[in-house]
Amino acid sequence: VTFVEERYLGLVKAAILDATLADVDPGTRDGKVWPPRALTMVGEARLENVWWCVERVLDDAVPGDLIETGVWRGGVVAWMRAVLNSRLAGDRTVWAADSFAGLPRPDAAYPADAGDGHHTIGVLSVPRAVVERNLARLGLLGGVRFLEGWFADTLAVAPIEKLAVLRLDGDLYGSTWEALDALYPKLSPGGFAIVDDYESHPHQCGAAVRDYRARFGISDPIVPVDWTGVYWRKS
Ligand SMILES: C[S@@+](CC[C@H](N)C(=O)[O-])C[C@H]1O[C@@H](n2cnc3c(N)ncnc32)[C@H](O)[C@@H]1O
Repeated sequence: VTFVEERYLGLVKAAILDATLADVDPGTRDGKVWPPRALTMVGEARLENVWWCVERVLDDAVPGDLIETGVWRGGVVAWMRAVLNSRLAGDRTVWAADSFAGLPRPDAAYPADAGDGHHTIGVLSVPRAVVERNLARLGLLGGVRFLEGWFADTLAVAPIEKLAVLRLDGDLYGSTWEALDALYPKLSPGGFAIVDDYESHPHQCGAAVRDYRARFGISDPIVPVDWTGVYWRKS
């Protein structure tokens, strides 16, 4: 990483974490709150993990695009785009998949989500126009493509050929399962599956990941990122 890349990404990260004019709030930094203004709730360690994963796939020429399923205000999508741009990797698309209307009501097909109340939480509903504006302000809207709607409707039919980074951040069993089911087969060997809610939602997101890995015999080791996030590299 060159000096200029590092400084550019440092500034973008500060902007995403709402830390350009004051110290970043500890809850925002640690990814433990829904911040009032920052563009992401994932915190610094999970941003650093995305950076590291993107650098690895570029260094190792792992083919494919990047996607986040569950983008909220768009901070991680902006970050993925910034890391790619810093490496002049403009040929790779960043896909932003979200309802842009919050989480779905629990689906009876997924008993683990029975009674879940995320769909009632207004702060989790961020319109696409707001996300586009957030990205445009940072000069990071170009090279981002949107998959708007419920994952069950958008992901399987999305015109994605290959992925190098698949980042899951949909909290629920159903949202996690649907993203893995539609997209994991498109993840290139050497690519990364990143799971934001593995420890924070062990009976929903975490269970879906364990069930999917068991069903398809995936034994690539799960590596912790921080108090909730994990990743593995597809062999
Ligand atoms: C925890 S937030 C994502 C946080 C975000 N990655 C960040 O950087 O702060 C979860 C997002 O997933 C979306 N979501 C969850 N399940 C979904 C589904 N089944 N279909 C579409 N969007 C979904 C919600 O709309 C919400 O924006």
